[in-house]
Amino acid sequence: MTERLSSTFSDIARAAGLLSDGKLVAFPTETVYGLGADARDGEAVAKIYAAKGRPSFNPLIVHVADADAARTFGVWSDTAQRLADAFWPGPVSLVLPLRKHAGLSDLVTAGLESVALRVPAGHLAQDLLNAFGGPIAAPSANPSGRISPTTPEHVFAGLDGKIAAVLDGGACAVGVESTIVGLTDHPTLLRAGGASRETIEERLCFELATPVSGEISAPGQLASHYAPNASVRLNVEDWQSGEKTLGFGKMACDLNLSESGNLIEAAANLFGHLHLLDAMEGTRIAVATIPETGLGAAINDRLRRAAAPR
Ligand code: TXA
Ligand code: MG
Repeated sequence: MTERLSSTFSDIARAAGLLSDGKLVAFPTETVYGLGADARDGEAVAKIYAAKGRPSFNPLIVHVADADAARTFGVWSDTAQRLADAFWPGPVSLVLPLRKHAGLSDLVTAGLESVALRVPAGHLAQDLLNAFGGPIAAPSANPSGRISPTTPEHVFAGLDGKIAAVLDGGACAVGVESTIVGLTDHPTLLRAGGASRETIEERLCFELATPVSGEISAPGQLASHYAPNASVRLNVEDWQSGEKTLGFGKMACDLNLSESGNLIEAAANLFGHLHLLDAMEGTRIAVATIPETGLGAAINDRLRRAAAPR
């Protein structure tokens, strides 16, 4: 049975205790719900792959309470410091060279010599990290390849009975996963996410490199991902009959990501609306055109993966 835990002191202590016992606890971050395990405990991390039904061992993001903790696992740099100052706690993950003897399970890094680190925002994530007192490895708390969870209900729908507990913190504010910036070489945008390329480049005062197109930049970034049961058609100008329609801006549609055309609101609604449309009658979802600027890059990235051949 999967327990539902609340934000009380005793429930957070209970969640931290479950993690210490090598169990899995889903918890809210500002981006999406994460499926957490003690990042130093290989058996606990292995349970993440089993619960999600992940086909391969992709590297996981390690969540820590602050930049000081991040420094104990990744080799720090001036750029890392500037990004941490600007964006932590928040929706940016940094891929740094892995420190020797950092104590992380090999399963977390998938044997790579780098590690993805992030300090999540949101009270519950911070409270859990502080109560636990160690690094928490956490991918999104959904079955592999399916739509990411932005509410505790999404987590229960996908993983009930397979994990020890869900910390219930309501809906996630940002709604798409963190932006991943690679710092093992020239700073590179490995995955578009909750902080836009534009805001990051503004802080750094230089442009982020883009991985060669078609190459899998962050291992585990599969073409088909975030897939609803229905098929997905993108950049739709004219809805066809029988389609479940996801709009953007003022238009007639079943659900609208943002009537006012606000990309921040659209990101927060994206996965929740896909979950709702998937539960409606019909086999095809049609999505209006979303601009590619700001958070639109992350939204379109997720939509393209949802629409990719499976
Ligand atoms: O917002 C988020 O980032 C959420 C919440 C829970 O924090 N987490 C998340 O984790 O999206 P996940 O497992 O779905 O995505 C982690 C991705 C991997 O697929 C991989 O692409 C990248 O992070 N990654 C992890 N370690 C890496 C490394 N050493 N080098 C390159 N990419 C890495
Ligand atoms: Mg995921």
